[in-house]
Amino acid sequence: MSQTQTTFPRWIPLLGGLLGSTTCGLLLYAFSVFIKPLMKQFGWTVPEVAMAYALICLIFGLVTFPAGRLSDKVGPRNVVLIGGLVMAFGFFMVSTITPPDAAIVAAGGEALKAANRTPLYLLYLYYGVICGLGGGCVYLPPIATAPKWWPDRRALATGFTVVGLGLGSFIMAPMATGMINHFGSALPVFKYVGIAMGIMVVCAAMCLKVPPVGYKPAGWNPPAAATGPGAPKAYRDFTYEETKKSPQFWLLWCAYFCGSFAGLMVIGLIASHGIDAMTLAYKAKMGLDAATKIPVDEAKKIAMAASGAPAMLAIFNAAVRILIGPLADKIGTKKIFITLFILQAGAMLMLFPAGNTAALLAACAGLIGWNYGAMFTLFPATLLSYYGPTAQGSNYGLLFTAWGVAGFCGPFLGGKIQAMTGSFFIPFVISAVVLAIAVIILFTLKAPEKIHA
Ligand code: 2OP
Repeated sequence: MSQTQTTFPRWIPLLGGLLGSTTCGLLLYAFSVFIKPLMKQFGWTVPEVAMAYALICLIFGLVTFPAGRLSDKVGPRNVVLIGGLVMAFGFFMVSTITPPDAAIVAAGGEALKAANRTPLYLLYLYYGVICGLGGGCVYLPPIATAPKWWPDRRALATGFTVVGLGLGSFIMAPMATGMINHFGSALPVFKYVGIAMGIMVVCAAMCLKVPPVGYKPAGWNPPAAATGPGAPKAYRDFTYEETKKSPQFWLLWCAYFCGSFAGLMVIGLIASHGIDAMTLAYKAKMGLDAATKIPVDEAKKIAMAASGAPAMLAIFNAAVRILIGPLADKIGTKKIFITLFILQAGAMLMLFPAGNTAALLAACAGLIGWNYGAMFTLFPATLLSYYGPTAQGSNYGLLFTAWGVAGFCGPFLGGKIQAMTGSFFIPFVISAVVLAIAVIILFTLKAPEKIHA
């Protein structure tokens, strides 16, 4: 057997990526189901709880950069293992936060504010900071590792390492809702899921390993380099320093920021938009004025109908991460990027009028989930094809900070503008405009010139 082959089955790092990203999905995308129960138990307001989410997005996104650098230097296993245990610890610790006395919560006012100060800071510390730090270390290394085992199917391998974000949220939302109904509190969910996360990340870390230098799968050869006089010289991968200096890298950063900003701004608002729009439509049909409350049964039916939208979004957000890989491996990422960003801008504009019809809203949400989820396969795959696999951990870690910054300001601005204007229209239009800017950026994008070895 040549030095560039190994008996280690190359699907194992894919499994590690799948497991690791599923824990990140449990951590991140189902947070909205905790908001109401936490508010009820602690007397917190929506912005207070939402700040924990903004914090985790920012820290998770920024930590991917040092996590990627570290993974390139010390290997992915240790980074995922330590980061994963930190993440599981933070999640578990949320379950230990003691709520104020129910009488203080019911009374509200200054006494509640004073009693809640420490619990709120603990939520920010455990969920926002500790889970964010650990989560970024779990998310990035598999994305940089698995495609090194699959030079023949890089985008597909990348898809496997991020599909769990969609899967995790798909599992977590109903599971957490069931547990909250059973325990009458959100806190036990953090305890049990925190323990499960700990086990999952240990298994994920054990599956990760970097292939030997020059590895190629049996029976596969890199596209042959031309030989003879005048033939191009062999090329080498970009170093991290070279990648950072290339303008294409920063164009990709801006496009990633725009796509994440628009997606994250809208994703958290979709269900509420559906409820508002369907309630208004019901009132118009029944000839009720805006201030009249609708019957409880009708309100429940509307909430149920609107909840189809986030479910569709989660399914498509997961599926696209795998399905788009083979296409990207075949035709390259630029054309797909441009098509998806144009579709996404259109979906944002359709979202407002679609709100009062459950099926249309769900279709729009599915399309938004599809376009949003595709980014997490396409951006790392584009980096790989532009700069090569050698410094992928550092390169993608830096690129992914765009998502962290967008995750902090997108949902925050979306919620603020909606509260100021009393409508979802402006946030949706802003999202479409930001996506249109990304389309222009992506049109100008060209692969950097290769560097001769
Ligand atoms: C993703 O969905 C974490 O947002 C990132 O893959």
